Amino acid sequence: MKSQYVEGLESGQTVKEVFVLSRRSIKDKKGGGAYAVLEFTDRSGSIEGIAWDNTVDDINVLSAGDFVFVVGNVNEYNDRLQIVVNSIKRVPENETEPEDFLPQADEDINHAFEEIESFRKQVKDTHLRQLLDAFFDDKELIEKFKRAPAAKRVHHAYLGGLVVHTRNVLRLADKIKTVYEALNRDLLITAGILHDIGKVYEYIYARRLDFSTPGRMLGHIVIGYELVAERIKQIPDFPGSLRLRLLHMILSHHGEYEWGSPKQPKFLEALVLHFIDNLDSKAEIMMSERKKNKGMEKEWSDYHPYLEREIYLREED
Ligand SMILES: [Fe+2]
Ligand SMILES: [Fe+2]
Repeated sequence: MKSQYVEGLESGQTVKEVFVLSRRSIKDKKGGGAYAVLEFTDRSGSIEGIAWDNTVDDINVLSAGDFVFVVGNVNEYNDRLQIVVNSIKRVPENETEPEDFLPQADEDINHAFEEIESFRKQVKDTHLRQLLDAFFDDKELIEKFKRAPAAKRVHHAYLGGLVVHTRNVLRLADKIKTVYEALNRDLLITAGILHDIGKVYEYIYARRLDFSTPGRMLGHIVIGYELVAERIKQIPDFPGSLRLRLLHMILSHHGEYEWGSPKQPKFLEALVLHFIDNLDSKAEIMMSERKKNKGMEKEWSDYHPYLEREIYLREED
């Protein structure tokens, strides 16, 4: 166990601790020489770091994602805490504890997974049931599904985040069916369960959260499409139009080309899936910004690059 976590750091404190070096960039100083702008992360959060000439050579040999032992001091700069680095060196990954670095869910993931299971069991269409069974009988894949985050940074960026996000999408789907009765519930539930299945392989989450190489090369929409298409092939007589609709829902769930979808939603279930997916990711960002700033005097969050706005944080007058 670490003894210092990002969350507990205070201005004036000395730091002697292991973090993940989550970002590094080396910059030239105006008058010659170089300095490094860094970011250190553990399970409790991230903090900026700054390193001057004397450590730049040590930083040159490090990569983002390395575990590093940092000695430095905590300062306040522009209303934010940062670590001024005195020395930094790489630590072998096998000398670190995964629990120190991976953010965990606030809720019981097994419980959330059981809720997904109960939605799965409500699917009556035999082909969709067979398809879901093919995924859920794959123990290795399900173990990964239960651990995977839903994002590296943006939303549900913690172990089990994919399960929580998927469960929320299913809860929303269930409610929306009571408003738009024309919805094909089986299709919406199946696509809801599988829409982000590609995230199982989009990220690495053994000791730190990051994109995997397939994640960077293909992304979860394409990976998910492939996983679903492959399994459909194994099911005899899977109807062609059902296959097409389900695959379209995976491809279009981000809704817009600029949000990574190669197709815009072209029918009711696809449109609804996109909006509930979008709603859950954005609602989670708003909730976690409030939580992060709880007890602080702040009225507004920092600018959120994904939502492209600051978030109002006060809950009371
Ligand atoms: Fe997605
Ligand atoms: Fe999603």
